Amino acid sequence: MTARAQLILANRAFLDHEAPRWADSPSTASSGGLLAAVRPVIAPWDGHSGTTWIGVGMGRFDREWVDPRGYEILETPRGPLRHRRLFFGSATWQGHYGEVANSFTWPLFHLVRVDLPRATPYYPEPQPPSAAGWQSFVVVNRAFAEAACEEDGAQSCWVHDYQLALVPAMLREREFRGPIGFFLHIPFPSLAVIRPYLSGEVRQRLAEIVRGMLGADLAGFQTPGDAERFAEAACELAGARPAAGGLEVDGRLVRVGAYPVGIDPEEVLAAARRAKPVTRVRAARELGLPVVVGLERGDFTKGIPERLRAIAEAYRQGKRFAYIGIASPTREGVEVYGALEAAIEREAARAREAAYWVGCPFTQVRAAVGWDDVVALQRDADVVFTSSLADGMNLVPLQAAIAQSLRPTEERAVVLAGVDAGVTKVYGGDGRDGLRAVDPLDQQSLLEGLTEGLEGRPARISDRFIALVRERDARSWGERFLDDLEGTC
Ligand code: G6P
Repeated sequence: MTARAQLILANRAFLDHEAPRWADSPSTASSGGLLAAVRPVIAPWDGHSGTTWIGVGMGRFDREWVDPRGYEILETPRGPLRHRRLFFGSATWQGHYGEVANSFTWPLFHLVRVDLPRATPYYPEPQPPSAAGWQSFVVVNRAFAEAACEEDGAQSCWVHDYQLALVPAMLREREFRGPIGFFLHIPFPSLAVIRPYLSGEVRQRLAEIVRGMLGADLAGFQTPGDAERFAEAACELAGARPAAGGLEVDGRLVRVGAYPVGIDPEEVLAAARRAKPVTRVRAARELGLPVVVGLERGDFTKGIPERLRAIAEAYRQGKRFAYIGIASPTREGVEVYGALEAAIEREAARAREAAYWVGCPFTQVRAAVGWDDVVALQRDADVVFTSSLADGMNLVPLQAAIAQSLRPTEERAVVLAGVDAGVTKVYGGDGRDGLRAVDPLDQQSLLEGLTEGLEGRPARISDRFIALVRERDARSWGERFLDDLEGTC
């Protein structure tokens, strides 16, 4: 890992705070895929080198302000972290986070098939933001760029994800002196697929986002496909030209590459060793039933209602298993999430009824679950059932592989994952190593995956899969990206 000071910019602060820090409010480590991937990468802060993290304070305030205490040093399991939070008023936050990040970019970038909003009753059509919403996005991105420039310019700056897509170009305009990296944790869409949405306004906003990302010296993506689709969009929308190693923009080279994220295997293993089985798993075992688990954020990209429909059908066909589905609350208050809850409820009610007739326990809850329980479920499941419509990576199969490594090979689970999730692109979804791709919109495919999974086919999680997950861990991901970033200057 680089010995230099390194700056990480992410929309999420390292800590969630519901109130200003000086109110002595309880604070908890933030959750989510981005944090899980980036957390293991931070280098301890030792006064002149190590990691500084800048993120948004998650409170909602009636005015804009910058934390007057500036930086704080947080004690983390990886050592001290220099941390700074930026706070925004609720109107700015709603425009930036509610309108642009979550009602426009998030649904647009996950449109792996143009028919998602038609094929599912809850997937929102990407909404071009209002002028005020876009302006809020600019304000938040600018605040990050300015905060970064207040840092000693000699450091590298690593900007994370779509919420901060404009920051790389803003740093360049402000002549940030170190190398600028950008990593997109979510998929980058294909222009051919989203073309029906590329009307004037959507096209213009997407072009601005792409131009923002092109401010980086190195733009990283989850898969080679995402990197290629970005390059294609950069050429069509932002006047970039293909060049060796990346793209040429305004006479400079932007390196573009695939850097699939990983997890921290030791963190999962430690939890898998200490966590007690959850009550519902113990109850299922007493009934002699295999356990199928579905764990995710309650997001419209996760394909939850379709999966529940397949579960119901499996019960109707007389299959016997316990299902434990947990969707953790996410992005509450963002309007486009409204229809999902109703769709989950409807399908869960049907599955619950079908389970009743075959005498099997079925649970689908909306709840935030502690880390140990998450890992316990991943460790004890016989089928880990994810079926995202699209996903940058999806860390659940990777965590499950490590958690299950404590079990003998012949007792391990089969992991199902959506065919368009990064994880199946990177690790392969043919099932040979226990990771099997399913088509989240095809009931037959979901049912087949589940049926075979319950029989341990085509294969249970293999030692090879576990070894790959260990090898491609979060630390090596970060090191590879940062080494390549250093190499750009
Ligand atoms: C998931 C995605 C990340 C994204 C994050 C935002 O974890 O994988 O790419 O940055 O959600 O979550 P938030 O709760 O901050 O909206």
